[in-house]
Amino acid sequence: MQAISNKLAERLGDAPTVVSAEYKGREDGSTMKALAWFGASDVRLIDAPVPDITEPDDVILKVTGTTICGSDLHLYHGEIIQLQKGDILGHEFMGIVDRVGSNVKNIKQGQRVVASFQIACGECSYCKQKLSSMCDRTNSSGLQNAMYGHRDAGFFGYSHFTGGFPGGQAEYVRVPKGNVNLLPIPDSVPDEKALFLSDILPTSYHAVVDVGVKPGDVVGIWGLGPIGQCAARFALMKGASRVIGIDKVPARLLFAREKSGIETIDFTEHTDVVKRIQELVPGGLDVAIDCGTFHEPKSLLHKVEKTLMLETDVSETVNEMITATRKMGSCGIIAAYAGYTNHFNIGALMEKGIRLIGHGQAPVHKYWHELLEMVESGKFDPTFVVTHRVALEEFPALYASFDKRLGGVEKVFVETKFSAPKAAGTPSLSRVEDWGTEIYAV
Ligand SMILES: NC(=O)c1ccc[n+]([C@@H]2O[C@H](COP(=O)([O-])OP(=O)(O)OC[C@H]3O[C@@H](n4cnc5c(N)ncnc54)[C@H](O)[C@@H]3O)[C@@H](O)[C@H]2O)c1
Ligand SMILES: [Zn+2]
Ligand SMILES: [Zn+2]
Repeated sequence: MQAISNKLAERLGDAPTVVSAEYKGREDGSTMKALAWFGASDVRLIDAPVPDITEPDDVILKVTGTTICGSDLHLYHGEIIQLQKGDILGHEFMGIVDRVGSNVKNIKQGQRVVASFQIACGECSYCKQKLSSMCDRTNSSGLQNAMYGHRDAGFFGYSHFTGGFPGGQAEYVRVPKGNVNLLPIPDSVPDEKALFLSDILPTSYHAVVDVGVKPGDVVGIWGLGPIGQCAARFALMKGASRVIGIDKVPARLLFAREKSGIETIDFTEHTDVVKRIQELVPGGLDVAIDCGTFHEPKSLLHKVEKTLMLETDVSETVNEMITATRKMGSCGIIAAYAGYTNHFNIGALMEKGIRLIGHGQAPVHKYWHELLEMVESGKFDPTFVVTHRVALEEFPALYASFDKRLGGVEKVFVETKFSAPKAAGTPSLSRVEDWGTEIYAV
């Protein structure tokens, strides 16, 4: 899949951008530790050049906190196209400003900042509306343009399908257009909270706002990883009367019940999820949100079709959402999908008047000021979802264990040699190999 997509992308040529993805190393030839992709289930720690200012709008960060995301698992499984061996991964990170390009006036050396997972130009019509993930001018993938009719913004560490920018699962990272893609963090907010403004807080909040959760709504959430867990809390914050989470990982189901007080459905126990929801909520859900993952088909039919490349993505969750939601209700997709799916229940969608909303990659800049305020005031404390802390060197083991959802893992804080001592009330440093052996993988 990678070879074909890379060939096709080469043939289509690059779409125009205002930023370059390549970075310059430093004159002294210094190197850093970084996590790079080499193939399906093959990620390695490498020595890469420390980035220098390459374009005058750049900011270079010393990374003080980074993490792994469910979206990285799609890369790990080789399900996102245009990956190239040696690509540095990681789209969620924060740090201390190390170097600043000559055009950057609002960010100073030594400042603590968090980056958005997307690289916005700050000037196009989407950026002017703070729809940073939709920026028109930072993603060079002509292939994405051809497949989708348009292209998203460039993203850090997420294949050449999103621009080929090196990511932040590393000791240093280059942030193009640093004047718009970095949010300064006040001293009162520790890294263990601020880091999550890069993705999971804006993403889960965007899903809840964009699908339109209203007071009194009964909300179903498919997938109880970090995004689903945070979306459940935001739905309650918006006044949902009931939230029902669906997953199969025992630790994640328990986590949702105990930490957020929501109801849960284990889809290995209730294999007919829609029937179970109809028992619990006879009229149907008001709102359903897909926070799951397209690389784990449940039925034999989809497993076979996916293996044979007759489809790239799976429609099971969307079909469950559409059939479990009341007539004229809303269903949203915040989970990442990449290509095409079979057996989509278009009839139920149309006949029931369901509003099916693709939320897109979340526009982080639209929400991060509001969310920083919530974090600073204590209205929303993201550390509830942080279960582990590990060192950067553990990344290869972390990918394997996060993929298998070992040891009750939800979100992980990954420290580097530049990190501050851990904040009170957050997990202590651990080794992935000590997390336990219970495996919940598909
Ligand atoms: N749109 C965005 O901006 C954005 C940003 C970040 C993450 N994401 C996506 O959100 C999704 C969730 O991210 P995460 O970090 O929580 O991922 P995760 O992989 O940690 O969690 C996904 C959960 O979904 C569950 N699941 C799988 N199949 C399911 C099914 N059929 N029904 C119900 N549950 C199922 C898994 O058991 C798992 O617990 C991923 O698809 C990720 O790519 C989107
Ligand atoms: Zn992410
Ligand atoms: Zn833009």
